[in-house]
Amino acid sequence: MSDVLAPARLGPLTLRNRVIKAATFEGRTPDALVTDDLVEFHREVAAGGVGMTTVAYCAVAPGGRTDRHQIWMREEALPGLRRLTEAVHGEGAAISAQLGHAGPVANAKSNQAPALAPSRMFNPLGMRFTKVPDALGIAEVVAAHAGAARLARTAGFDAVEVHLGHNYLASAFLSPMLNRRKDEYGGSLVNRARLAREVVKAVRDAVGDSMAVTAKLTMEDGVRGGFSIEESLQVAQWLQDDGALDALELTAGSSLLNPMAIFRGDAPRKNFAKVLPLPARWGFRLVGKGFLREYPYRPAYLADKARRFRQELTLPLILLGGITDLTTAQQAIDDGFDFVAMGRALLREPDLIRRWAPGAATPSLCTHCNECMPTIYTRTECVLRPTTPV
Ligand SMILES: Cc1cc2nc3c(=O)[nH]c(=O)nc-3n(C[C@H](O)[C@H](O)[C@H](O)COP(=O)(O)O)c2cc1C
Repeated sequence: MSDVLAPARLGPLTLRNRVIKAATFEGRTPDALVTDDLVEFHREVAAGGVGMTTVAYCAVAPGGRTDRHQIWMREEALPGLRRLTEAVHGEGAAISAQLGHAGPVANAKSNQAPALAPSRMFNPLGMRFTKVPDALGIAEVVAAHAGAARLARTAGFDAVEVHLGHNYLASAFLSPMLNRRKDEYGGSLVNRARLAREVVKAVRDAVGDSMAVTAKLTMEDGVRGGFSIEESLQVAQWLQDDGALDALELTAGSSLLNPMAIFRGDAPRKNFAKVLPLPARWGFRLVGKGFLREYPYRPAYLADKARRFRQELTLPLILLGGITDLTTAQQAIDDGFDFVAMGRALLREPDLIRRWAPGAATPSLCTHCNECMPTIYTRTECVLRPTTPV
């Protein structure tokens, strides 16, 4: 049996343990550049004992940000990114950049750039219609992922995580509901998966074996007519066969259509409504209950679905969702998952892993109240954490 706290290989890397800090957009980049606050956020998580932390999120193009306060990968960002990777390495952890294009989840108005989607749809945050890229536009998106990965390598990142989840652009292409294209990127599953596979291959080609390449894939969107688990299993199989990934992280839900399927637990409707821009806030008042549904929370709530992937794939897998204590994390490893990823528990207690020790009861203080979620629009933090110095 492998020990979750023992070193483990991830592609070309050896991580000091099997715990990865999951991407949680930090809200600490007001000018789309690294700040001291962002560096300190990840330094603290690294000092807290994780094997690897994940910077969320690094958009591959200005219009690929969920809003203009997010980093997009460009030369100007390089000095700050270098500082960030050095700080994390100084604490003995590895660092990954989550790369992606927000697609229909982007706020076009804030970005001053159109939001892309596989097919024309209304972009609620930007209050305008999305732009549908043609084959050339898609090629640009693929090339932008490769460019961003190269920049990440230059900045000293050890890994990149390609975002294929939550109905961001690549995941919106996977969805039969959002993707109604008639060209080679729409229709059959093989066509809908083309963008995701091209992006992953382009990233691998860009960085070779010098970095670990992982992807975060949605197992199901959690909406009727959306991307299903059977389809996701097939896409995961293709990604494995393509041979460009070192590991696959499994998620669920859609930032666009069903965010609470990502998180489970309490729906923070009141505070979410407060932080939305005005027209979207009015819309949210009307449909908020349907949009932010409550799902019962339980430890490792994605494990049942993820086990199906474990049974069918040989690719290393990262289990995510509701992992907050050593027993659950070790159980995931015993069940054949190679790594665990943790989001909210490490927002609550960045030093949790350092305090984990076999036999020691270190229950997480995270209550999955999800009040951290609305804070992404200001500065992401656990609202229960007593001190979060700016
Ligand atoms: C405040 C917050 C911000 C998040 N931002 C991102 C993000 O930028 N990219 C992403 O893929 N997932 C994001 N997530 C989802 C997490 O990576 C993870 O999938 C989810 O929180 C479930 O894991 P957990 O139970 O360990 O928290 C975010 C989650 C939270 C709570």
